[in-house]
Amino acid sequence: MKALILAGGKGTRLRPITHTSAKQLVPIANKPVLFYGLESIAESGIKEIAVIVGDTRQEIMSAVGDGSKWGVKVAYIEQEAPLGLAHAVKISEDFIAGDKFVMYLGDNLIKEGITSIVSEFEKNKPNAQILLARVKNPQQFGVAELQGGKVVKLQEKPKKPKSDLALVGVYLFDKNIFKAVNGIKPSARGELEITDAIQYLIDNGYTVHPHVVQGWWKDTGKLEDMLEANCIVLDTKEKDIKGSVDGDSTIEGKVIIEKGASIVKSSVRGPAIIGRNVKITNSYIGPYSSIYHDTVIENSEIEHSIILENSNIKDIKRIEDSLIGQNVTIIKTQKKPAAYRIMVGDSSKVEII
Ligand code: G1P
Repeated sequence: MKALILAGGKGTRLRPITHTSAKQLVPIANKPVLFYGLESIAESGIKEIAVIVGDTRQEIMSAVGDGSKWGVKVAYIEQEAPLGLAHAVKISEDFIAGDKFVMYLGDNLIKEGITSIVSEFEKNKPNAQILLARVKNPQQFGVAELQGGKVVKLQEKPKKPKSDLALVGVYLFDKNIFKAVNGIKPSARGELEITDAIQYLIDNGYTVHPHVVQGWWKDTGKLEDMLEANCIVLDTKEKDIKGSVDGDSTIEGKVIIEKGASIVKSSVRGPAIIGRNVKITNSYIGPYSSIYHDTVIENSEIEHSIILENSNIKDIKRIEDSLIGQNVTIIKTQKKPAAYRIMVGDSSKVEII
């Protein structure tokens, strides 16, 4: 078996973060989302992986490298434009070379991993296996309709979903998927949809097995999902203090403090993670916060938020439910007249009191 990881796409629902970086590299509990997928694939025993890249290729390639960190071999395939998931399959035909494969969307997180799913696929040998999860908002996903345990119909983001079973972004295929991706036409949004390709398999008599995911699953394409994924992952962590904590600080619950970080006159309440060389002074870091490397926080309170690397937050009463990018400065002004002075990127959202 081989694997394709899709790490192209524009990440429009995570702007402005994705104006400058890939959505697959936003860290969840201080680890890029994409690395969770890579780990699951490596754990399942698959050794040959191709990462499909687009505009953010440089950043993805420098983060993932040749795959040796995970004991796998990673190749890169360029998708010239985000023309759809089935298009990504189409351009990978030479790499797959007749083998079976897993296609994994680089912004998806699955608690149970994929090891048992891969074995199930290898044992039962269907032409395709799809993963499904019950969701409250099926109109935002591909949706499956099952009858007697069989997949009968798939629809991409239907206005009136026939079920609450969303397609999870992990698919297993044999070589027949190439007939399907070459046999379908672009959808109304101009993309070759993998949902249509799987429907093609069903319509042409190929076997498509459903697997309903039992543990949690998250597509981290939106802020709320990203924050929720961060909570879920932080909850699974154990306390681990490698950085320094001074005598005037308190650490409660499952808190990870990475190497070189320092906590001075502050209180950190877990689950939370404080990255390498982060400096926290005279502040409160509350549950479900992930603070990435080299960030500085002074005289501020932060809870239920993700702060990326090298940012600077000073004298801010309280930040909650936020995703703050790299190299961001948020400070209380000392200038007169006192006023909000803001430079925020396109498609940003700022709520102030
Ligand atoms: C894609 C698929 C959709 C699937 C989802 C899972 O949607 O088109 O069928 O349910 O991934 O993450 P996207 O997130 O690209 O809009």
